[in-house]
Amino acid sequence: MLSPGAMISPLQQDLEDLATLLERAKVESLTHLNALDQLPTKSTYSPKLSGNQLPNQGVGTLRAVDEFNERLRQVIVASAGPRYWGYVIGGTTPASIVGDWLATAFDQCTFATAGQGDISANIEIETIQLLRQLFNLPDTYQGGFVSGATMSNFTCLAVARQWAGQQLGVDISNDGMVPGITVLSAEPHASAVKSLAMLGIGRNNVVRINHVEGNREAMDISDLEAKLQALNGQPVILISSGGTVNTVDFDDMISIGKLKEIYTFWWHVDGAFGGFAACSPTYRHLLAGWENADSITIDCHKWLNVPYDSAIFFTHTRHRQLHIETLQPLNSPYLGDLLSHVNYQTLVPESSRRLRALPAWFSLIAYGKEGYQTIIETNIRLAKSFGTMLAGSDHFELLAPVRLNTVCFSLKESEAEPERVKTFLSTLNDTGLVFMTITVYKGRTGIRAAFSNWRTTDTDVRMVFDKMQEISYPSLKPAS
Ligand SMILES: Cc1ncc(COP(=O)(O)O)c(C=O)c1O
Repeated sequence: MLSPGAMISPLQQDLEDLATLLERAKVESLTHLNALDQLPTKSTYSPKLSGNQLPNQGVGTLRAVDEFNERLRQVIVASAGPRYWGYVIGGTTPASIVGDWLATAFDQCTFATAGQGDISANIEIETIQLLRQLFNLPDTYQGGFVSGATMSNFTCLAVARQWAGQQLGVDISNDGMVPGITVLSAEPHASAVKSLAMLGIGRNNVVRINHVEGNREAMDISDLEAKLQALNGQPVILISSGGTVNTVDFDDMISIGKLKEIYTFWWHVDGAFGGFAACSPTYRHLLAGWENADSITIDCHKWLNVPYDSAIFFTHTRHRQLHIETLQPLNSPYLGDLLSHVNYQTLVPESSRRLRALPAWFSLIAYGKEGYQTIIETNIRLAKSFGTMLAGSDHFELLAPVRLNTVCFSLKESEAEPERVKTFLSTLNDTGLVFMTITVYKGRTGIRAAFSNWRTTDTDVRMVFDKMQEISYPSLKPAS
């Protein structure tokens, strides 16, 4: 109890003012969300970071918000807005924002489905069931939430490594790494290779499979088979793409499934964003056969349009025991019996985690299958429409057909002048109207525009295309 007249600490004051603080958070959030259409997609402001002192006595939340607004707010860009087309960023549905706020307010530590006080892991199990339905995957997959597709790839490949060790008669998670594991892939995402490095499998053990001939990134299945034959019974992990980042090409999953009946290998599908093709009857054939994979990566903070950080992995339940063997912590008495019920400490790399499933749960319940079908199909339609505009213009050319939601293009006749493409892109990004990213595709410097935000409309596409045409910059003209 405070004596009358005693100074009240900022923390106690904040508790008394909680309603005001949350109201302020609502106002700040609404101001940002309502302006997403007009806010710049690029910040040119660099806050002065040195010299700020940790206050002895804090200033309280309202003044912290003021300081944030004065000094740091300007680095915030409209990355959740309709014209942020760099990487594969996605946005946030209203329901997912509500779910995220509540997950923070509830502050659960999502371990287990029983026996640990906090049993919010049951919500995660239910959300995984909903996601299995969204992706038309059978219930022979268990799943969990991690912070992003990198950690999802990591988790799946950790179980794959345990499997590979088992083929060699070694329990790697207990007894350490062994040489001799080969990883095959045609177009592995950078994060999968990073996971191999972190897992001690080694970046250099990736053997590239040839691409299908033509303007394709998918793997050549006959080359895959030849490599599997040559490896003759050694443990092999296959990382397949569904789809690739530059042109969203998909490996032929039906043929991979057939090879799996003949050869022994672990089959991982990186479907971080391409997995969402499953939401559309028109595009789900691209993933036909993926339900036979051993493990699958899906990113939720990309096309599910929930806030960062959110991704899931699926591992086939035929590997349930192997999965637990890989990730179970040391069975310390204070953690209770980890194995008597679903305990995410035995399924994910982290121990303590927030209730990461809640934003996804809210969004899935709020918008359902149809809502997501609409988001996915609209983004694909917009990508194709943007591609058609570029292909018909005097200045641009498509580097590959628009297969799904990503447009990979360049300036015409820019083969010998990659700098011209880079200069054009930075001029365009500097307008703050749109954000795209640079890439290299089949040796050509190009630009990627990825459509994964539910807010993007035809007007945005037209506005960006007009701006691209309008930028009167020497970079547009081939050097004569
Ligand atoms: C195919 C693919 N896999 C993995 C990742 C890594 O995802 P994250 O950045 O969420 O870790 C990405 C990100 O762009 C991706 O496109």
